[in-house]
Amino acid sequence: MCGIIGYTGSANAIPKMMKGLSVLEYRGYDSVGVAAQRKNGTEIVKCKGRIGALEEKLRDEPIEDSRCAIGHTRWATHGGPSDENAHPHRAGKVVLVHNGIIENYKELRSELLGKGAVFLSETDTEVAAALINDCYAAEREPVAAIRKAAARMRGAFAFAILFDGREGEVYVIRRGSPLILARGRDGFYLASDMTALLPFTREYCALKEDEIACLLPDGVSICPADGTRFPPEWKTTTMTPESAQKGGFAHFMLKEIHEQPAAVVKSVSPRVNSKGLPDFSADGINADFWRSVRHIQVVACGSAMHAGLLGQRLIEDYAKVPTTVHIASEYRYHPPVMSEGTLVVVISQSGETADSLAALRYAKEQGIPTLAIVNAVETTIAREADRRVYTYAGPEIAVATTKGYCTQASVLWMIALAMAHAAGRLTDEKAREAVNCLLRDVPAAMEQMLSREDRYRKAARGLINHEHVFYIGRGIDYALSMEAALKLKEISYIHCEAYAAGELKHGTISLVEAGTPVLAISTERDLFDKTESNIREVRSRGAQVTLICRSDIAVPSETADELISLPVSSNAATVFSALLAVQCIAYEAASLLGCDIDRPRNLAKSVTVE
Ligand code: M6R
Repeated sequence: MCGIIGYTGSANAIPKMMKGLSVLEYRGYDSVGVAAQRKNGTEIVKCKGRIGALEEKLRDEPIEDSRCAIGHTRWATHGGPSDENAHPHRAGKVVLVHNGIIENYKELRSELLGKGAVFLSETDTEVAAALINDCYAAEREPVAAIRKAAARMRGAFAFAILFDGREGEVYVIRRGSPLILARGRDGFYLASDMTALLPFTREYCALKEDEIACLLPDGVSICPADGTRFPPEWKTTTMTPESAQKGGFAHFMLKEIHEQPAAVVKSVSPRVNSKGLPDFSADGINADFWRSVRHIQVVACGSAMHAGLLGQRLIEDYAKVPTTVHIASEYRYHPPVMSEGTLVVVISQSGETADSLAALRYAKEQGIPTLAIVNAVETTIAREADRRVYTYAGPEIAVATTKGYCTQASVLWMIALAMAHAAGRLTDEKAREAVNCLLRDVPAAMEQMLSREDRYRKAARGLINHEHVFYIGRGIDYALSMEAALKLKEISYIHCEAYAAGELKHGTISLVEAGTPVLAISTERDLFDKTESNIREVRSRGAQVTLICRSDIAVPSETADELISLPVSSNAATVFSALLAVQCIAYEAASLLGCDIDRPRNLAKSVTVE
């Protein structure tokens, strides 16, 4: 949700900005801009649209000799996508880019208007620039000015700031929004996430909450309130530049779908001990901890919340621990009852989702233990939770999550096994066997499913001329259906709803008419007969049914118009295969419709506003 980048050093800054912004574009792509220091002052070039539009502008107005610059790619919040609302924004001696939202910008704006400030945009960011400029006029020193302004702002922000007359200096501060600093061979960098820095360096440091830092061409200082200065502790990321590239695939989404078999192994294997049993000691979690949990509240958004629904079924089935799943943006306004033994589990691929972070903080304020299941390492949610379990999916660039969700599901599966084993509900033998299914059967089955593009394309052809589509399933398949429907909606823009198969007849079946596409998922053998009855109900009303079903069930030919069979080496293999099938159907539908698959309209990868 908005990406920011910056550089100061000995090299030409603009090519670096353009490269970094092209990687950050997945965070928002409504407008884009750069500000670069030159001999005669700071120059801003910005426009509505994507990076191509900025490249064109820079061809007409090139900035050639800048060694210090900041850049921004925007997901519009305050004020629509326009040239005026594009970042960077200038106010007096201050030029800045911003990721986040200033909640009290209206009151600050009227105060600053009273002092003679003039605003050219509708953004909260321009108000922040004016406030920092106002504080700079009083303090005459950047760090003091930023600190004073930050104390007045409510909300979330990561700023990169240039001050007139301060050549080669970039100042940053973050609260709630992510910010990474990095050290390269030819200078120092900042960005909203590490992937944008991988073309330049792998040495990084994640800025902490409310920290201010000053980047100079020859070093970086962290500037605490006591007036001291100290250098960052640099670390080296295991990510490689290749991991953030398409690697020959047409889209990041397709690449990430193909990475899933390996990603499941990466997420499961660190939680298997030398006896082949589920064990989270490497994450600092032992069997006593699992035994102490009486009730789990999962809190997350979008697909991560859907992974929670899958996890709920697994944890309740295996460990018999009551589990509820909550939409993060609702959680703190209607919090469920918490009691002794409650564990709040926050799931987030990005580790920065504002609603999930707010829910995590709420749970912590209530004194409830928290555990985060996160992909992006050292992100705010990972840092603030009492315990963290990384999914190790690697960078996920496509806005529509695939391997992120898949690895959340595999980690939740392992948690269910670990809890059941710790509670003595699963023998060593059964636990070992279940772990093996995840490590061996799931990747093999997913690999097998990857080669069925023709089936997915055929199923997708049956959807693309329809305005409404339904997914139905029971139990785990209902949870999967919710993710399947979201995937189809977000990238192909076809309206799709997920229903518990038995629920459709309680009202929504009235929407089914001749030709309405219904996709049914059936991975649970015991539930097939019931699901089949529901399929018959819609078919007899004219629905075109695609059945995604385990291959050991003899499906009568009249049950469905299309059948996609799933490997049955284990239950887990069948579930993950169904997941891969629905992801691919969504991908093929979007592809047939010519949609911008990796950057669907109105969306951003990391939603850092509430
Ligand atoms: O980064 P997070 O997992 O916290 O993101 C949560 C949702 O915004 C995310 O899963 C969203 O629903 C995806 N775009 C769906 O593909």
